[in-house]
Amino acid sequence: MEKREDPNDEVQELLQTLEQQTNWDGSPLVKYDGFWLPALFFRSILSFQKYFKAKDSDVILTSFPKSGTTWSKALNYSIVNRNVYAIDQSPLLTCNPHALVPPLEHDLYYLQDNPDLGNIPSPRIFSSHIPFNVLPASIRESKCKIIYLCRNPLDQFISHRHFSLKNKFQNDVVPLELDEAFDRFCQGIHSSGPFWDHMLGFWNAHLKNPEKVLFLKYEDLKEDIAFHIRKIAEFLGYPFTEEEEKQGLVEQIAKLCSFENLKNLEVNRSGYVHGVVEKSSFFRKGKVGDWTNYLTPAMAERFREIMEIKFGGTGLMF
Ligand code: A3P
Repeated sequence: MEKREDPNDEVQELLQTLEQQTNWDGSPLVKYDGFWLPALFFRSILSFQKYFKAKDSDVILTSFPKSGTTWSKALNYSIVNRNVYAIDQSPLLTCNPHALVPPLEHDLYYLQDNPDLGNIPSPRIFSSHIPFNVLPASIRESKCKIIYLCRNPLDQFISHRHFSLKNKFQNDVVPLELDEAFDRFCQGIHSSGPFWDHMLGFWNAHLKNPEKVLFLKYEDLKEDIAFHIRKIAEFLGYPFTEEEEKQGLVEQIAKLCSFENLKNLEVNRSGYVHGVVEKSSFFRKGKVGDWTNYLTPAMAERFREIMEIKFGGTGLMF
């Protein structure tokens, strides 16, 4: 992935004025609108905010990193395009989900300030990790749909740690040890953090306008994927017909997008996304509760207290 040079311009000037911190993986963060955003993507986030014009037919898949974005992309792509491609002809069989549903700030607006997205056929599906309030106004204010996928933050943290250790994004950064990294995570100092504000931003937007923002949990999808495929299809305005139900299309999509299937496809076993991220690193264990293999009871207790303080009374819990 080619990196755009950062000239000495107004983005650089703004960067100098912002509070800076180091993420637990060693990469630089800047505080913007109350969130710790990766400095590497700061320019693309500003370009995305400035230039992206949402269409009412757009579908924006949002998530905190390592919450199941790859799964969400495969599912939504399959649901929306089910009349275009038969399941056994699905582009997912030959393309990584991130190539089919491009990330906005990590790809499109990273490569160009103002990419031409007008020719992409509707409905366009994009993904983003940035917080609700930082999203371009046209996404928040248009009739486009937002689907947020949330995950138990402890599993998300462990997943992210493995992902960062496996992929060397920046050679000059040194990740913290697990206990120090966890401490920083609990302080909310991590990429797109604090996680509680990220989640609550989308949670509150969902409560305010459930027709616009669908709020899903990774754990719920693991428990009953067929139910959630129907739910997503209805939310997007593409409910399954009786005929499609009879054909078992819901189950076929579930199987196509399952962890085991995607992980073992040749296209996802080797090679890179954006030239730097190993495709295989998007498919690790795909389990609920893996954090128990890494974090101590004391860490879990500290986390429980944080959850009570941050999420108490919001209706959102894990
Ligand atoms: P683990 O590291 O816990 O295994 P993201 O896609 O947001 O980067 O999230 C990656 C996490 O989702 C990883 O979690 C990965 O294994 C899991 N994952 C990827 N594809 C999945 C799928 N089809 N079903 C369930 N989990 C999946």
